[in-house]
Amino acid sequence: MNTLDMLQEANRILSINDKGHYTVPTQGLYPFQWNWDSCLTALGQQSLNNDRAWIEIETLVAHQWDDGMVPHIVFHEHDDGYFPGPDVWRTGRPTPTSGITQPPVMGLVLEQLWQRSPQDETTRQRCVKLIEAADRWHAWFYRCRDPQQTGLVALLHPWESGRDNSIDWDAALAAVPVDHVEPYERRDTLHVDASQRPTKFEYDRYVALLQTFRDLNWDNSKLHDASPFQVVDPGFNAILIHSDRALARLAGQLDRPELASAAQRRADRGTTALETLWSAEHSQYVCLNRKSGGLVDSASVGGLLPLLVLPDGHPHLNALCRRLNHSLDVAPFGVASHPPEDSRFDGRRYWRGPSWLIVNYLLIKGLQDNNNAALAERIVNASLRCIEQSGCSEYYHPITGEALGGGTFTWTAAMVIEFLQHHGVSVAA
Ligand code: DGY
Repeated sequence: MNTLDMLQEANRILSINDKGHYTVPTQGLYPFQWNWDSCLTALGQQSLNNDRAWIEIETLVAHQWDDGMVPHIVFHEHDDGYFPGPDVWRTGRPTPTSGITQPPVMGLVLEQLWQRSPQDETTRQRCVKLIEAADRWHAWFYRCRDPQQTGLVALLHPWESGRDNSIDWDAALAAVPVDHVEPYERRDTLHVDASQRPTKFEYDRYVALLQTFRDLNWDNSKLHDASPFQVVDPGFNAILIHSDRALARLAGQLDRPELASAAQRRADRGTTALETLWSAEHSQYVCLNRKSGGLVDSASVGGLLPLLVLPDGHPHLNALCRRLNHSLDVAPFGVASHPPEDSRFDGRRYWRGPSWLIVNYLLIKGLQDNNNAALAERIVNASLRCIEQSGCSEYYHPITGEALGGGTFTWTAAMVIEFLQHHGVSVAA
């Protein structure tokens, strides 16, 4: 596939998964609107239709909860092909949603959309509404997921991380009691081979956590302290900090000085607190299990994502770049979510090894901010190598480039457009 074919295929995938005002990640496996999928999809959509890109995020924000949380799934239409559906979540929303959230990439995406839009009054008003919503969401994070005011927010469910079955959660998840799990039937393995999906052991605990929160009526003033799973992920926090900085810059340009200072304050506190997650042993950041109080012994890609927020000249930048270069030496098809040297690595199972174009994108963004164009280009090339060999799949084996998970995948297609249109790759016929 040459670059023009790739671009045409990516455009085709965005249009087949487009429901008009939101986009499904892929037909069958994920038939609703997912939070961070939608935000990242808007980047690709903007190249085709600027208005449509803004609508994608407006649709998501229309389902923001009164407390500020933006849910991880919006169940716009009935579909039996997914578990757990609205009948399991029972969040009581007018349009059903899940009751947990997802990585807050919205802020960083809004900045990108704004910079690439005609900056007229209509767009300005749209953008102001969305940054106000993102600001309420970010304030919710620090209020409800950092009640001790440490400067770092915790995930209460592996699904919130976006890296569902990462090795990072193994120990914390194993401590979740499962004695009251109601019988359930998975649907994901009807669409994708079970060897590429989380295990039953993990699903039992995913469902147990959901039931715990549902029993508390999804009251976010109670969930953090009641949750048997509380993990602080450096990647998730870096995304939140980066998005807060983007909000601060946008709010400055859009004449919202109070919003700008609130976002900047949150970002500054988070950046300082992130240093508590540095592991000298792994030469990168790692997760903290807030329940046990210990750092997690796992060198995942989540611990490389602080590249998004480290300033030029930061003492840990070189170490993170060395880890990334090494990762690409041993696994050339994108950035492996866990190092192949880890005995728990599984190159085909979802977030236990495979590479993902959206994570590659976030790393590239961080590297560009730190003037490391050579390494950024290496990751762009590794990403496009996956597409050239295997098409737009959900994720890839990082050593062989095998297509894995769902096919004709929206956010992968959106990242292809992003890389080809905005990251210095020439599109030749
Ligand atoms: C799934 O169902 O696998 C999703 O990742 C949860 O959001």
